[in-house]
Amino acid sequence: MIKIAPSILAADPLNLERDIRRAIDARCDWIHIDVMDAHFVPNLAYSPDTVRALRNITSLPLDVHLMMDHPDTLMGTFMDAGADCITLHAEAEGDLHEMLRTIRNRGIKTGIAVRPATGIDVLAPYLSEADLILVMTVEPGFGGQKLDERVIGKISALREAGYRGEIEADGGIREDNLQELIRRGLTVAVMGTAVFHHERPDELIERLHRM
Ligand code: DX5
Ligand code: ZN
Repeated sequence: MIKIAPSILAADPLNLERDIRRAIDARCDWIHIDVMDAHFVPNLAYSPDTVRALRNITSLPLDVHLMMDHPDTLMGTFMDAGADCITLHAEAEGDLHEMLRTIRNRGIKTGIAVRPATGIDVLAPYLSEADLILVMTVEPGFGGQKLDERVIGKISALREAGYRGEIEADGGIREDNLQELIRRGLTVAVMGTAVFHHERPDELIERLHRM
């Protein structure tokens, strides 16, 4: 069954707890927290304090997506705050092998993400160290964009290359384009706008889980 990870970037910033509780009650599977450093992407989002506060209200897996040039500067703080999965970008600076090892040594899931323009060939050295591969289906930095159909082939290519871990896609995923991603081997769908701007997220999630 596909796992739905609502991206809190699309929640009402003045009613974050209300919106997140609605997503939890709608039986979402993970909570996706976007972290942005205003340099790797031209936006700024969420601190470890948000993860710490979320940890106090839910036992759902907290899926932290670090859109940062230097993820090593804060990944420890996010792990201390209660993250269950830390995803780094393959395009980030620093020793990714060392970072992935550090995350795994703390018993936390590792993820590695690629922007639309980055080919999956760059992932080859990391596949054995990544519990999750995050295929960005929009240019990272903002919610509410249109899914870039040109990159969905990466999902099937990863499966054809024998990757058996979680494959997560992120950006522009809707009820009307999710089925194709699942057919190609997706296991986790990040959905921000589609979930938080829906009047009945419970009915939506029930339909998505039946896909
Ligand atoms: C974009 C973020 C996504 C985004 C989800 O950089 O990584 O998680 O918030 O986008 P939508 O709203 O299209 O689902
Ligand atoms: Zn994200």
